[in-house]
Amino acid sequence: MSIGSNFFDELRNRITLSEVISRRIKITRAGREYKACCPFHNEKTPSFTINDDKQFYHCFGCGAHGDVIKFVTEHDNIGFMDAVEMLAAEAGMKIPQQSPKAVQQAKQENNLYDLLEEATILMEQCLNDPRNFDAMSYLLDRGINREIIKQFRIGFAPEDGQYIRKALLQKGYSDKDMIKAGLLRPMAQGGEPYAFFRDRIIFPVPDRRGRIVAYGGRILPEHMRPPQRGDFVPPKYINSSETPLFHKGRMLYGEPTARRAAAEGRDIILVEGYLDVIACAQAGIKGVLAPMGTAVTEEQIISMWQMIPSESKIPILCFDGDNAGRKAAIRVCNRILPLLEPGKSVNFAFMPDGEDPDSLIKSIGVSGFREVIKKSIPLFDFLWNTYTQGKDINTPDMKASIKKQLEHEISRISDKDVQNFYRSDLRVRVSKIFYPKRYYGYNTGGGKKTGQISIKPQMPKIKKSQKQHLVSKILLCTIINHPHIFDSIEEVLLNMVIKDKKMDSLRQNIVSFLCDYNDANREKLIDHLEKKGFSQEIRDICNESVYVHASFCSPSADKGNILGMWLEYWNDCNNAGLEEEIQNGWKRAYFDSNEKEEEKLKSLLSMKSRGE
Ligand code: GTP
Ligand code: MN
Repeated sequence: MSIGSNFFDELRNRITLSEVISRRIKITRAGREYKACCPFHNEKTPSFTINDDKQFYHCFGCGAHGDVIKFVTEHDNIGFMDAVEMLAAEAGMKIPQQSPKAVQQAKQENNLYDLLEEATILMEQCLNDPRNFDAMSYLLDRGINREIIKQFRIGFAPEDGQYIRKALLQKGYSDKDMIKAGLLRPMAQGGEPYAFFRDRIIFPVPDRRGRIVAYGGRILPEHMRPPQRGDFVPPKYINSSETPLFHKGRMLYGEPTARRAAAEGRDIILVEGYLDVIACAQAGIKGVLAPMGTAVTEEQIISMWQMIPSESKIPILCFDGDNAGRKAAIRVCNRILPLLEPGKSVNFAFMPDGEDPDSLIKSIGVSGFREVIKKSIPLFDFLWNTYTQGKDINTPDMKASIKKQLEHEISRISDKDVQNFYRSDLRVRVSKIFYPKRYYGYNTGGGKKTGQISIKPQMPKIKKSQKQHLVSKILLCTIINHPHIFDSIEEVLLNMVIKDKKMDSLRQNIVSFLCDYNDANREKLIDHLEKKGFSQEIRDICNESVYVHASFCSPSADKGNILGMWLEYWNDCNNAGLEEEIQNGWKRAYFDSNEKEEEKLKSLLSMKSRGE
């Protein structure tokens, strides 16, 4: 599709920028311009200006600036062509199409969109018709307010299978198109086609641009509907079948609102049902979406990632807390593993047993749901829990089996970087949980518990201060020899305190250099540190007398393992330090019966039990 600049000029001329913006945010006139609180940053006094003559907006607060197309792409969080098509339709302009076939197809699709829009209006009217008050009162009784009913365009499909058909035929639409759009079912042997949705509450499904493309229809509760023949139980929900406009596996219910929410930096949350999306919206939680009666697909996951503008694209998937919910989560997890990329993942949240977001919000309020969302866990933790929870991990066979299964799952991640980080996190987790008392400081391969055989010769006993010195040597030495791990441990290194002043200054110099040059290699780093006057320290640290204690810090260590080993080592030394402090504390508290000491101890103990 090629669109000349004339087209865009014409589009901007035909559309009034302030009108487009005023439909999205509140604006007020100020002389020849308009003013508003900027939708692209947080502010209380308006610094966002709109100039219709110049056809641009500008924010004096954050510098956001652009024309109507840019505004719509950024505010609605949709693609350029989506925005252009949406605005062109508003301006009554046709986008130049390449082939006659494409023109024909676009025309047909437009006709179907119009048809579904008309049908939606009809069904909205039906819901408001006093004759269908049953349906309306059902919604109101469930706590859905009229404003939300309007916003989600909820409607009612009457029992009469000809009602919508006749009204649309009168407006000039054909049976053929109504069948194509999924509104009618053809009747065998020349009978009249009849409505697919009958005597159901209707949830229109908008595409990302807000055009209705399908419906979900919910049955009324038993006491509100005529008795069924025989023992036929109608399904609670029916959804439009696949049509040229509706691809079930791609579409998500709630998308236009969720996209805007994502653009505002809110969480994207996937729930199960129409009514969950609606209940959340009513409770002020934007950014909520639902697949339509099917398990979430790859396309839907990718679509959620695409709507999150920030670097960290982590939608939260909500599942029932029961067994079925857990199983569904496992299936989704299986689907997602091969798709993972840096910055793209999902979190898992589990509802209390027997509740869905709608019922939870109703029973304990929106804070209950927010709590569930807050407790969501990363995919890695979900995987770990899936394979370890409820398992007896006390036998070596079980440990090996669990580790192997997890390794197998991780091997399904196609992105190599992500796979490596999962591997190193798995290492850390395995050693922390499976070998909680393992002793580090000599070599990471052998244990030094009483009764255990150490593979490496034992070192002569060293004093505590010497040991601490060795720990910091090992930690720094690893980074000097393998600066590539810095990205992942920056945070840890930044907050680390080393007692020896010169060593601590070395640590700071490493951090500041690698922050500036994160592609630096070992040679460049050493060169820089030597220039800064650390030649002696580097000689002390980077040599065999240190490597012998922890093989991973040596320059010849296997690159793939270093990060995991470093973290494991750091973690262990940290815990060991805490243990020691607690031990000494008890002694002091015992001898001095010192209350202050006891307080401190309690907080140390709780820190330890939280695993910090
Ligand atoms: P309420 O029961 O009214 O609160 O609706 P719900 O959305 O909570 O329903 P439920 O948790 O039973 O189902 C979740 C979603 O699965 C629904 O929103 C539908 O999209 C879909 N669904 C439920 N039942 C059926 C069914 O019988 N057929 C189909 N195709 N989809 C269904
Ligand atoms: Mn429900």
